[in-house]
Amino acid sequence: MKIIVGITGGIAAYKSPELVRLLKKAGHEVRCAATAHALEFTTRATLETVSGVPLYSDLFAGNATSTEHISLKDWADLLVVAPATANIIGKMASGIADDALSTLLLAMAPQRVLLAPAMNSQMWAHPALQRNLELLRSWGVVTVGPDDGPLACGTSGTGRMSDPAAIAAAVANGDWTNGDGGQRLAGERWLVTAGPTYERIDSVRFIGNYSSGKMGFALARVLAEAGAEVELVSGPTSLSISHPRIHTERVESAREMYAAATKAFPACRGAILSAAVADYRPRECADHKLKKQGSEGMTLQLVQNPDILATLGAMKAPGQTLVGFALETDNELQNAHSKLQRKNLDFIVMNSLRDAGAGFGTDTNKVTILGTDGSSKESALMSKEEIARLIVNTVTAS
Ligand code: CTP
Repeated sequence: MKIIVGITGGIAAYKSPELVRLLKKAGHEVRCAATAHALEFTTRATLETVSGVPLYSDLFAGNATSTEHISLKDWADLLVVAPATANIIGKMASGIADDALSTLLLAMAPQRVLLAPAMNSQMWAHPALQRNLELLRSWGVVTVGPDDGPLACGTSGTGRMSDPAAIAAAVANGDWTNGDGGQRLAGERWLVTAGPTYERIDSVRFIGNYSSGKMGFALARVLAEAGAEVELVSGPTSLSISHPRIHTERVESAREMYAAATKAFPACRGAILSAAVADYRPRECADHKLKKQGSEGMTLQLVQNPDILATLGAMKAPGQTLVGFALETDNELQNAHSKLQRKNLDFIVMNSLRDAGAGFGTDTNKVTILGTDGSSKESALMSKEEIARLIVNTVTAS
């Protein structure tokens, strides 16, 4: 591909030459475009050396009627802005073109732009920035990161630019094709289950688990941004999502999730079941708060919950795609393969509790996606949003 790496003025710009190097190593033709502020953090000489071609940073270089922004946009398949500051995101969302890079961004189709935001965590959380990103995404712009971690200002939080390797992986995975104006999955309906289930013991207590719902919500967002209608069936979680193509149904128990999922599935092109469903529930649920009884312990009898994934596997019609998750602690591959067969799945996303940063309650995940066709795709440790893109790209590719 022909890729322009756009660089704006943040400290993460010192990593941009590494991104250029990785993209070139992957076989892409790369040119760089930088703002004046970017060149406070990295240099023209560095960018021209790694890319091997002159840097585009001055609208009026050469002559006053320069139209290089138009010839560059015709040349490029993709424009990756890394780092993308709050400022360039704001300009892009407002259509402001007052230097070489912002003019190029206004000339490029939004669905050919991938942004790797980087900023202080409070700037990241600001409603103006979030609104701007939301708008850009609705136009087909794709974002990678930012990650959590130490920030230049000495604090820690969300705002670090994703590693150059993760950005290069997002390019390689075709993440940006999801931004094809949000049309790639237009007309398709997908079911996603998310979060934990709560199984009531009495009127104030339940059995639950630590699932945050982040993975499922990220999957719903990626599917919707690619044009799909999404039925999101979520167990109890503090997360919320607002997107015109996402219909959220809140449930509490495994049996409620089962009812909602089995009802929605027949009208769906596919389903991704990421919920951490309780395998068992108390045999009885008291309608009042149970009192302590003497000094003896207490025995809670559990009965098995319906297996939603296996049920959808049995219901699956030709043309439907079913994706399950597996959280394994040992014999991971073997167990995941047997689950794939046993439950009549097309793909299984395996996360291992052995990997630090993967699994429940974290913002990151690391997965291996196994297909019935024998395919196996292993991810790096990435944000759940990036993992969601990898999963959606993989399971909707056929
Ligand atoms: N799942 C489900 N309904 C259940 C239990 C699990 O739909 N009652 C789904 C989960 O959403 C996940 C997958 O099944 O996609 C894997 O769940 P997991 O707990 O890893 O596997 P189990 O099927 O419970 O098998 P085992 O306990 O033997 O590992």
